[in-house]
Amino acid sequence: ETKHDSKRDFLFKAYVIVSMTFMWTAYTLMVSYTRNSTPADKVYNSSSVVLLAEFTKWLIAICCLLRSCQYDMASVRRLLDVEFFGRPMELLKMSVPSIAYAVQNNLDFVALSNLDAGVYQVTTQLKVVTTAVFMVIMLRRRYSARRWFAITLLFAGVAAVQMDAAAENSTSNDSDKNYTLGLIAVLSTCFTAGFAGVYFEKMLKDGGSTPFWIRNLQMYTCGIISASLACVVKDGANISRVGFFYGYDSKVYCIVGLLGMGGIYISLVMKHLDNLHKSFASAFSIILVVIMSYWMFANVHIGGFFLLGSAVVCFAVLLYNSVPE
Ligand code: C5P
Repeated sequence: ETKHDSKRDFLFKAYVIVSMTFMWTAYTLMVSYTRNSTPADKVYNSSSVVLLAEFTKWLIAICCLLRSCQYDMASVRRLLDVEFFGRPMELLKMSVPSIAYAVQNNLDFVALSNLDAGVYQVTTQLKVVTTAVFMVIMLRRRYSARRWFAITLLFAGVAAVQMDAAAENSTSNDSDKNYTLGLIAVLSTCFTAGFAGVYFEKMLKDGGSTPFWIRNLQMYTCGIISASLACVVKDGANISRVGFFYGYDSKVYCIVGLLGMGGIYISLVMKHLDNLHKSFASAFSIILVVIMSYWMFANVHIGGFFLLGSAVVCFAVLLYNSVPE
């Protein structure tokens, strides 16, 4: 049965990675669309979206915790008493990535409001490199020169793939867009995301025996606090004037849902795989997404940069895997 098990394991990992990528792609497109098609005085407060998404993740973590205890309330309570309320230091440790993610999730909106979705996706690929650097520093991973070369190639390849899309989507005369601010925001998120992702993985893998959903519960509890703070600091004055749910419609609730579920799936990828697999997987699926949209939409073209970039990405994946762990 081991062959059957490993096949199931592979299918599960593929499912988690594919779902994660589709959710983040949909999220990126919807934020970009709503931010750029709504007049500035009608648009929702982005920090309220981040806060609601933290609530969503917190609720999902509670449900998964219940499920992991077979819905036996006594054992859930015991688990919470020992692992959650009994370990305040662990809660404090999880506040570090949760603050970094709260900053990142808010900066993403700044970036997407000031850059085209395509340009955003190119620059955000720098995360591959920052993540690898943090994995060396914090998880003491060692990569051979060949692997570093593969990581760099991956970044270049994905950037090239996105270049075609970026050129197509660019809307040149947008006066209320601040390109420099958008770029600074997206580059900052590459650092906060790389750091927070590797920190979370470290806590999961060498951080003792705390169960996975307790780790998430710790993080999302801190997340609700830091996202509330961000809400007050960033949009407090505006929210008290127009209300928390100002500008909300079904699209905005959809964005909340995607941000929440996307986060849960990312945590699953970090548990079952690792941060660098996450980067490589999303690089690969970016190509798939472009190919699929070429199939589905008439106005998408596949150009020279795309073909070159795809070849480079495939080569990078092969090169990365050509050396044993
Ligand atoms: O891909 P990137 O690292 O930028 O995205 C990380 C996202 O995943 C953040 O929005 C963060 O809030 C979310 N996340 C989560 N739960 C985890 C780890 C990350 O919701 N355990």
